[in-house]
Amino acid sequence: MQQRLAGKVALITGTASGMGRAAAVRFAAEGAIVEGCDLDVAANCETASMVAAAGGVMHASGPVDVADDEACQRWVDSAVARHGRVDVLYNNASACVFAPIDVMTREQWDFTIRNEVTLVFVATKAAWPHLCASKGLILNTASVAGHGGGPGGIGHSATKAAVIAMTHVMAAEGAPHEVRAVSISPGVVETPGSAEQLAMPGAMDGLLAVSLVKRVAQPDEIAAVAAFLASGEAAFITGTDVRVDGGLVNH
Ligand SMILES: NC(=O)c1ccc[n+]([C@@H]2O[C@H](COP(=O)([O-])OP(=O)(O)OC[C@H]3O[C@@H](n4cnc5c(N)ncnc54)[C@H](O)[C@@H]3O)[C@@H](O)[C@H]2O)c1
Repeated sequence: MQQRLAGKVALITGTASGMGRAAAVRFAAEGAIVEGCDLDVAANCETASMVAAAGGVMHASGPVDVADDEACQRWVDSAVARHGRVDVLYNNASACVFAPIDVMTREQWDFTIRNEVTLVFVATKAAWPHLCASKGLILNTASVAGHGGGPGGIGHSATKAAVIAMTHVMAAEGAPHEVRAVSISPGVVETPGSAEQLAMPGAMDGLLAVSLVKRVAQPDEIAAVAAFLASGEAAFITGTDVRVDGGLVNH
């Protein structure tokens, strides 16, 4: 494996599962020191063990609710205390409720905004001075849902469109400090987070019908793109959204 991230300190949210876990493994394999947080302590420690077994370095923090200002600030501060710097903030964690407009409650709407948008703002604000000092990178996980919308996605499409827009602002405000900001919009990825939706009758057939690549993605396919974006090879990429969707949106 190339060592494109050697010595970089990468803060990744949501490392207990899915794409966050895959990113922790991939970033560490490329030489990064990973600081991963999650609400789920046991599963996050499992990720750290996987990283260590592969010869990498990851510190697992938790439980950290990234949308909680104080908890998130403590996480960032502890990473800085250990390593003295932050080179990458990867805003991967999220949680949302899918429901039709007439069924979705105000509480479910607020939960989705908090756990898909507010936590990106909170983590970015906490890491901002350190990213400015290191000329670092903010990597945000958006979604194909942020480019369109389907039944049940009133909250999720709103939040992911917001993440894409926030990335433009972060890139513009980061530019004077040589901070880059990029979002990734995955298509459908096989993770614990997508399992329930993919198991719904007809979901997979409907998805494959509108996808140019006739399968779902694996988390490490997204992690590979994230590692490239965090590397020096992507130094000219900022203020944009990178779709990794098997042709789902373009079709
Ligand atoms: N799976 C897909 O098909 C898909 C597609 C497009 C975009 N995405 C996005 O990719 C990212 C990762 O998705 P996934 O499928 O790997 O999810 P996942 O549900 O498997 O993992 C998400 C992790 O984030 C953690 N988390 C949630 N809220 C948190 C909070 N407030 N504080 C700390 N940790 C929190 C969860 O505990 C969990 O471990 C998310 O932003 C998701 O919206 C997923």
